[in-house]
Amino acid sequence: MPETLIKVKGLKTHIHTPEGVVRAVDGVDFEINKGEIVGIIGESGCGKSMTALSILRLLPPQAKVSGEILYRENDLLKYSPSQMREIRGKGISMIFQDPVTSLNPVFTVGNQICEAITLHQKISQKAAVEKAIEMLGLCGLPSPGEQFKRYPHQLSGGMNQRVMIAMSLVTHPEILIADEPTTALDVTIQAQILDLIQHLQSKLTMSVLLITHDLSIISAITKRVIVMYAGKVVEYARTSQIFAAAKNPAAALLHPYTRGLINSIPNIDFTETTPQTPLSPLSKRLNTIPGVVPNPMDIPTGCRFHPRCPNAVQVCREVEPKIRLCGEDHGIRCIDQGDRLKTED
Ligand SMILES: Nc1ncnc2c1ncn2[C@@H]1O[C@H](COP(=O)(O)OP(=O)(O)OP(=O)(O)O)[C@@H](O)[C@H]1O
Ligand code: SF4
Ligand SMILES: [Mg+2]
Repeated sequence: MPETLIKVKGLKTHIHTPEGVVRAVDGVDFEINKGEIVGIIGESGCGKSMTALSILRLLPPQAKVSGEILYRENDLLKYSPSQMREIRGKGISMIFQDPVTSLNPVFTVGNQICEAITLHQKISQKAAVEKAIEMLGLCGLPSPGEQFKRYPHQLSGGMNQRVMIAMSLVTHPEILIADEPTTALDVTIQAQILDLIQHLQSKLTMSVLLITHDLSIISAITKRVIVMYAGKVVEYARTSQIFAAAKNPAAALLHPYTRGLINSIPNIDFTETTPQTPLSPLSKRLNTIPGVVPNPMDIPTGCRFHPRCPNAVQVCREVEPKIRLCGEDHGIRCIDQGDRLKTED
């Protein structure tokens, strides 16, 4: 049995705004096991970042969180601010989606990385500097000794992204949450960073929660995948199961939303993707699922996907589906329609 490090149960993160309550995360359950790379995929606004930020308790003050986030069986939602500071970095580290707001403009990048190291490890300043420069080099920064002395505004967006990646990996966390870690980078650097994450993951048996819009990255490096839609998990499965099911519509079950995501990129053999050969950005943006993600202040009744679902029937508009187990490690949030999904999807 794999060792479970994180167990998220019934997580709700609702943001109270003057206009209404944003149900950004609305009852999410999943697990992260030791040493595995799990992906979260879903369109923009479906609650991926809010889920990640909830785990680290880095939410806006108007957010209200409920449910449980068990880290080694202790509920992080019950931790004090100082206990959370202990966990961040050494236990769970995060690469944020937006590097600009995550780096401090008044300190050099080297200073910030060294601080991340010395906060959790008793090592000399000289050793911390060496470690920081080594990690900057590993993350693909040219002349890392020079970049170490620079301020964030003196570096490009992609370089700051790599600084942030270095900062989150340098403490050798047990779990890395990577929120769109390579979106801002060109394809070569993207491949380099994904390789680095994979290398460290296996060397340190680190667990990774990888958030992305990009199915080729999911296919290339994750073992399990969680599909989110409008604040809920609509499907979870082994990554290989999802792509095999997409290839063979007659034989396998797949949530209509997951199928829509995969079908929105035509004629791609995802089983061929690797961190070294991710898809070109052009090939990833061809079609989209008709319709839009619902406003999280006004979520549709019944199944949240029903306004966009090609298989929707009346009951879908009225009853909110539960996750239905349909194989080992595979769950689908769809009203059970017998063989309908197998034949008509
Ligand atoms: N501070 C905030 N105040 C109000 N609403 C917010 C706030 N932050 C996020 N939201 C809303 O919560 C929902 C979920 O946001 P989240 O950032 O988790 O989406 P996401 O899946 O990460 O999207 P993307 O792929 O674009 O990064 C969105 O509708 C977003 O507009
Ligand atoms: S419950 Fe109905 S609307 Fe929702 S995904 Fe299944 S078939 Fe589509
Ligand atoms: Mg996000």
